[in-house]
Formats: sequence, structure tokens, C-alpha cells
Amino acid sequence: MIISHTSDIHLPLTFKPTISSLFNKRVIGYINHNSNRRNVHKLENIELILHDIKLKNKTGHTILSGDIVNLSLEEEFINANEFLGKYFTKYNLSIIPGNHDSYVDIEYKNSLYHLANYLNECDPLNQDSTFPYIKKIKNIALIGISTAVPSPPFMCWGRVSKEQLMKLEKILSSIEKENNFVLLFLHHPIHHYGAFNHKGLLNKEELIETISKFNIHLIIHGHLHREIHNSIQIKDISVPCIGAPSGSRDKNSGLSYLEYQIDKINDKWNLKVYRREYNFTDEMFKSLILKEVSYD
Ligand SMILES: [Fe+2]
Repeated sequence: MIISHTSDIHLPLTFKPTISSLFNKRVIGYINHNSNRRNVHKLENIELILHDIKLKNKTGHTILSGDIVNLSLEEEFINANEFLGKYFTKYNLSIIPGNHDSYVDIEYKNSLYHLANYLNECDPLNQDSTFPYIKKIKNIALIGISTAVPSPPFMCWGRVSKEQLMKLEKILSSIEKENNFVLLFLHHPIHHYGAFNHKGLLNKEELIETISKFNIHLIIHGHLHREIHNSIQIKDISVPCIGAPSGSRDKNSGLSYLEYQIDKINDKWNLKVYRREYNFTDEMFKSLILKEVSYD
């Protein structure tokens, strides 16, 4: 089974927001979008990536680890659903929100709920009850955690709510004896980033404490817009923690996404991590193996 992973696509705004919708932190995001992000995040780049995934990973699954939109305007979520629907069905894509998908306080039914196809069972009135969610695909347990919370201007931290931590523990307990490959995905990294961790997860210790009682095989995230490789020791396993680059960034930064090939070999889980990198001269993606992990 191959899991493709891209992140932080920041789909460009295709409409002019109303003045009233910018009477909050969004005004800073809108200025940033027009002066900076519009030039960095290109729709044609994420189209190249999603087209490659659609051709190459027909039988696998894809994870989009947040920051799908920019300002959390309802129209952005509606457009994003239409855009993602060109490449995916509800069965082969899973998403979680990033800080830009929860940029200001906005009702769930007017925001992320428009992308409910790519979540799991959801209550349209309650985002908290949607996360974490689990999808099991051939003994691979994909568990999506929301770290997206509105933060003050110029901050982009995340947090996992107490309710989510309790539900996560229940989910992990319920599958403990199943010998699944357990993959956690969230937007923010669980390692420290930025001065005073202002780009990180404010309660990362609580999350680590919760998951430390269970067998976890892989943790993936986005948020930093570049490929990141870390690890964390959980029980006896050195668990890779891998961040995907932004899937829409301009060609000067290089365009790539990640693939995780997960197999059971002689009753042991095996993981191969690949980078699919686009060459703008050849106009082709090429695979490069980055690491292989065998779990005892
Ligand atoms: Fe982010």
C-alpha cells in the first residue's frame, strides 16, 4: 500500500473577499496573500502533484495535512472541495485542518465541513467531535488529529484539545491488539519550531504522553512548507516524524511530495519513504528513496 503525502497547498483566492469579512485577523492574511503568498503558492504546481498522484497511486491513499486554504472564508472551502473532487474520491483522500483552515473563529458548518467527504463521520455542528478520526485500510490505521486553532496575528501555533486527547487514547486502545501499522497525521510538527515554539504545538508534551503508551509506526505533518525528518522514541520504536513540503510552492524552492510504501514482510511491518521530485526541465517526476525502516 502506498500513502502519498502533500501539504500546505494554500489554494489561491479566486475572488475578492467582502470588506466585512476582513474585519479581523484576515486583513493581515489578505495583505500577505496578495503581496507574498500569491507569488509563492501556484495552483499549477499543486495540479502537477495531484495529477501525478492520480496516475501513479491508483490503488493507494493520499493524505493532505492541512493549510488547504488561506483565510478560512466559506467560499474558499467550497472551491477547495470542487478542486479536490477533480482528483480524489471520498475513499482515497484524507485531510486534516491547518492553522489557515481555522484562521479565525468560524462555524464548522460554514468552513471545513464543506470538505467532509475527506474526513470521516462528522457532526456538522461540532468540529471537536470529528477529530481525531480513524480510517483503517488493509490493517493500516490512519488517525487524523486536528491541531488547528485560531492564533493571534503573526502566530501560527497549534493545540490538541483535551477532548481529542481522550478520544485518541480510546481509539488507540481499541486497536491495540490488532497489529496494525499505525500512522498519525496532524498539521503541526511534534518537535519544537520557532522562537518559544510559536510555530509548534503548544501542548506537544501532552500529545506525546498520550501516544507513548501505544505502538505507533509513523507520524506525519505539514506546516513548515519544507521536507523535515525527525524521530521520537515511543516504547522500543524510533518512530519517524516526517513533514511534507508545501505542494504548491514555486519552482525555485523545488516541487515535491512524499510517498510511504507500507508492507508486511514476514509478519513485520516495513516502511519505505520516497520523495517524488518534479524536474521543471524534463517536466517529469522522479522517485528517490529517502529511508527504509523495518519494525521488529
Ligand atoms: Fe500551517
